[in-house]
Amino acid sequence: MTMVKYETPTIHMPVLRDEVIAALNLQPEGVYADVTLGTGGHFQAIAARLSPKAFLIGLDADPMAIDYVRNNIRINIPHQLFNQNFAELERVCYRLGRLELDGVLFDLGLSSFALEDTRRGFFLFKRWAARYAF
Ligand SMILES: C[S@@+](CC[C@H](N)C(=O)[O-])C[C@H]1O[C@@H](n2cnc3c(N)ncnc32)[C@H](O)[C@@H]1O
Repeated sequence: MTMVKYETPTIHMPVLRDEVIAALNLQPEGVYADVTLGTGGHFQAIAARLSPKAFLIGLDADPMAIDYVRNNIRINIPHQLFNQNFAELERVCYRLGRLELDGVLFDLGLSSFALEDTRRGFFLFKRWAARYAF
């Protein structure tokens, strides 16, 4: 397996983590989807509160987010990750044979992970060509 090393040195703190966990009202054996995986902070927090009989689905439209989570985040319960737009969630669920979900998390926006990576051209304060394409 190739380890991918990204520029972002900081661990991203998931926004309103405790509030998100409370709002999801997690059932230990439930099936949940985080459809804006980012760097996986919420995904990991959800996984830590579920039993091995639960199932987690992770989606992100950004292939680098999927790559990052695959290589850097340890998830100890059954799960699958997909580089997909969340518009494809229903199709993904069919593919997995998981037709009922107990909760879905949408944490809309860009990830600081993407913003801080100079190769992606968003960052204003480093000497790097701005691209603003995503
Ligand atoms: C604010 S970040 C999510 C952070 C994440 N909750 C965490 O704990 O690290 C938003 C993520 O949504 C993804 N995203 C934006 N639009 C999307 C879409 N239509 N489908 C899937 N992912 C999308 C971005 O690529 C980004 O990784």
